Amino acid sequence: MQPINLHDYEVLAQRRLARPVWDYYQGGSDDEISLHENRAAFARLRLRPRVLVDVNNCNTATSVLTTEIAMPILIAPTAAHGMAHAAGECATIRGADAAGSGMIVSSNATFSMEDIARASQGLRWYQLYINTLPEAQQQIKRAEAAGYQAIVLTVDTPLLSRRERDRRNNMGNFQRTYYPRAFAGNASYTVEGNLNDSERAIYAGHTLTWDIIAWLRTHTSLPIILKGILTAEDATLAVQYRVAGIIVSNHGGRQLDGTIAPIEALPEIAAAVRGQCEIYLDGGIRRGTDVLKALALGAQAVMIGRPILWGLAVQGSEGVKHVLEILQQELHSAMVLVGSPTVKDITRSLIQ
Ligand SMILES: Cc1cc2nc3c(=O)[nH]c(=O)nc-3n(C[C@H](O)[C@H](O)[C@H](O)COP(=O)(O)O)c2cc1C
Repeated sequence: MQPINLHDYEVLAQRRLARPVWDYYQGGSDDEISLHENRAAFARLRLRPRVLVDVNNCNTATSVLTTEIAMPILIAPTAAHGMAHAAGECATIRGADAAGSGMIVSSNATFSMEDIARASQGLRWYQLYINTLPEAQQQIKRAEAAGYQAIVLTVDTPLLSRRERDRRNNMGNFQRTYYPRAFAGNASYTVEGNLNDSERAIYAGHTLTWDIIAWLRTHTSLPIILKGILTAEDATLAVQYRVAGIIVSNHGGRQLDGTIAPIEALPEIAAAVRGQCEIYLDGGIRRGTDVLKALALGAQAVMIGRPILWGLAVQGSEGVKHVLEILQQELHSAMVLVGSPTVKDITRSLIQ
């Protein structure tokens, strides 16, 4: 099958990956309610297209922070790309560069942040989990030296949630046996199956509070972005703490199960933020119309997680590039059809 959309890549990737790896990439927490809602919430939104607008020069280009990108679509931080492809994150970021997108590199990457940086000319942000402060400080220094342009602090993981697919597959054992270095590019990390409850809390840095932003600011001059905001209250606090951006996210349905979908949280968050920091969104983006809906409701750009892993598993950096280009082309078509020739023209009035 020649993949023509992201769903095709999902089918092809499943055929290639060992069951425990597939389940680790695909799965969510508990009953996977949030995982499914992330998609369902997009499907419920209805568009209000405008006609007879001059869309001859429709263009998906935009910028995030100060970086120009070809499309308002970035790669969300996901762990352990080495289980999808031997070249791991180095292939992923090459695909991002070739498509004119950018990548948020997970602190649980297979390759080191320096190796990944060397493979890239374009936008790269470093996603930080804080296990211990000295380790975090060292990682921030390394990220700055390697030319990362922002620090993305994930704030929805005071512990790693229960992922039952991984438990049933004994994923911890599988990974230690077949991919012992899969998570080892940057920090010490173990998948959930290896940890007892207290270790799970420690590994995920359960002591983080809003004070951590001031601490981060004393250790880096890079822009700070918070990933995992779902309420207007926390978005308002994030603005008060002067972050450069927030990512509206429920971790792809992998942390607290039963949350509102990010696309449903976005309107109240956009109203609370009122342009005082940039807003991004991830979770369930599979079509160009999903990107359009997120932009209409107030996101500056979106991020995709699993579809990138599918592209990587199927065809390495070419697959990553193709996944991004498919979404960009779909977004382009959607912009033409709703009468929004530029990203700036995509406004709230497009949604019912
Ligand atoms: C396999 C996998 C690993 C992930 N690892 C991380 C991670 O290391 N750090 C992080 O902040 N988010 C992580 N996430 C969450 C993603 O950044 C993102 O929020 C989510 O995948 C978006 O949803 P989507 O997969 O539906 O596009 C991971 C997600 C998946 C699927």
